[in-house]
Amino acid sequence: MDKEEKKKWLDAGKVGKEVREYAVSLVKPGLSLLDLAREIEKKTASLGAKPAFPPNLSINQIAAHYTPKYNDQTILQKGDVLKIDVGASIDGFLSDTAATVVAGEGDSDLLKAPREALEEAIKIATPGARIDDISRAIENKIRSYNLSPIVNLGGHGISRYEVHEGEFIANVTTNSSKLLRREGVIAIEPFATSGGGYVVDSPEVQILMLESGRQPRSSLGRQILEHISSEYKRLPFSKRWIIEKFGQIAELELRNLIREGILYEFNALKEKDNGLVSQFEHTILFDEGKAIVTTL
Ligand code: CO
Repeated sequence: MDKEEKKKWLDAGKVGKEVREYAVSLVKPGLSLLDLAREIEKKTASLGAKPAFPPNLSINQIAAHYTPKYNDQTILQKGDVLKIDVGASIDGFLSDTAATVVAGEGDSDLLKAPREALEEAIKIATPGARIDDISRAIENKIRSYNLSPIVNLGGHGISRYEVHEGEFIANVTTNSSKLLRREGVIAIEPFATSGGGYVVDSPEVQILMLESGRQPRSSLGRQILEHISSEYKRLPFSKRWIIEKFGQIAELELRNLIREGILYEFNALKEKDNGLVSQFEHTILFDEGKAIVTTL
């Protein structure tokens, strides 16, 4: 891997780590989710990066893909299980990292299970390693706490301007013989739950991504699309960011862009049995036969 490119992957990792730790330090009962999202975005900018995707701040049975609405009223309550999943982009070189905190409370098995599963997984995740060995280690660790791994969420490859690309690293064994890439970047993200271990779409959608470059009908639609293409390219973005830039009228226009097949919707994902969900995640860079955790 080219030296300059490697430096950008490492820098994006460092920003991701700092932003994650900063966000974790702010969590307490009474904090508004919208304020937390804005603090994360300010911190990311102050470190010279852009968000790789909107800060995912998912509470309790919501596993992932929730980010605050422009007028979000959510206030963290004591005991809320908050997943903070953040990432940084430096010229499209990305990081993706997550931690779970329980507002106003300390450590618990729900947090230990995916955190230790991630530690185990990192030991095994060398260039070209068998993916199923990682999946099995994650599953065994989470089940040892009498919790379920989430079967339809998992780690993934990352490439420039693509948060999800290439291999899928399941959180349960699949007996697949597939191998990890030998060069490049991946993320590993064990999810544990007190439910059955399966997520479904909730009706809530706050995160979008450009799907096709087709021309929108309205002129505001074209302006918004132009902004999205230049600012986010193929990275996910939040409805809130667009509404903050173009005003509330943009909300209707986003609906049109979705209907016209130009934007893709990420539904917030909810554990099917309403189990509580926890998650930890790191980004790993493979280069010259070595693995470096960029977000550690
Ligand atoms: Co990820």
